[in-house]
Amino acid sequence: MITDNFGRNIHYLRLAVTDRCNLRCTYCMPAGGLQWLPGKELMRYEEMLRLCRLLVTMGIEKIRITGGEPFVRKDLMPFLYQLAEIGGLKELTLTTNGLLTEKYVPGLKQLGVKAVNLSLDTLDPGRFRQIARRDGVDKVLATMHRLLEQDIDVKINAVVMEGKNIEDIVPLVLLTKTLPVSVRFIEEMPFNGGGGPVPLKWDAVQMLRHIKMYFPDMERTADPAHATSSNYKIPGFTGSLGIIAGYTRSFCGSCNRIRITPAGILRTCLYSSGGLDLKQAMRAGAADAEIEQLIINALLKKPEDGWAAQDIPEVARIPYESMAAIGG
Ligand code: GTP
Ligand code: 5AD
Ligand code: SF4
Repeated sequence: MITDNFGRNIHYLRLAVTDRCNLRCTYCMPAGGLQWLPGKELMRYEEMLRLCRLLVTMGIEKIRITGGEPFVRKDLMPFLYQLAEIGGLKELTLTTNGLLTEKYVPGLKQLGVKAVNLSLDTLDPGRFRQIARRDGVDKVLATMHRLLEQDIDVKINAVVMEGKNIEDIVPLVLLTKTLPVSVRFIEEMPFNGGGGPVPLKWDAVQMLRHIKMYFPDMERTADPAHATSSNYKIPGFTGSLGIIAGYTRSFCGSCNRIRITPAGILRTCLYSSGGLDLKQAMRAGAADAEIEQLIINALLKKPEDGWAAQDIPEVARIPYESMAAIGG
């Protein structure tokens, strides 16, 4: 078990397997994409497996595969099968945009994946094209239905953006009327890969006010431990709702997570810059015991709140990095 300097137990690893993506969501990357990592800068599957095995011995119980879009990386499924076999790993899960995912759903079921988070900011094909700069809403919905058919829990992640998808909030809430999904509305965070500062117009409070206007009997429900979202339910609806204050960071106090970027950098907070280069350590021949010590040292420096910890003025803090390069 790893406990940081603020008494938080770290048991959740977010592992980004690629920075590449088949969409170009405006809140994540520029229209032309990113300067993708060259192949040799990307961690190899054996390297990721080695780190995951080690981290599980150190107390990691849940691994979430992210990207970029995980299924853009070749041979993801065989890698997932190997991960699923790590003794002591309690939960293996993914966050995906759902475009390429449908055909892998039976495989995910077979390897024991119990929950998948799907990014979907609108149900309207035209607005999907404006936000993701590609088509695909029908594919995401097909993936959602296939997951539900297989009894895999689905959370929908919708980033809320002024002028882009406010009219989608109610239709997305209505998805929960008949479907057992959790729709989570997310504050837009400043990780758009260079597209400029992000003025937060729709924070968690405003989202809540908006939803309550249409669904006044919405009720607050208990949040699972370490949840990023504050959760709600509309009486009589099958599914549930959540609001993720990722920009205002209301959940840092119970943060239980670390990240490994596609380049093999350990990040102890989404908002911290730099990080520990685990890929380089492995390629320089470090033994597991050395890597373990490096990780422990890094974790003891995990900030209480990575954004607030930056000792620089507010204006200079905007990280233009892409969410895809960090892993969400
Ligand atoms: P569950 O494990 O199902 O609760 O999902 P999750 O919220 O941990 O992960 P997901 O990949 O679905 O991310 C949902 C949103 O929360 C994304 O916008 C993430 O960037 C954001 N998020 C996840 N972890 C953190 C975090 O540690 N800090 C901040 N600020 N945002 C986070
Ligand atoms: N702000 C908030 N959430 C974001 N995501 C990607 N970029 C941003 C951003 N700038 C979300 C995606 C995905 C999750 C991993 O991160 O919607 O579901
Ligand atoms: Fe791709 Fe996800 Fe970024 Fe959209 S948010 S461009 S789906 S990595």
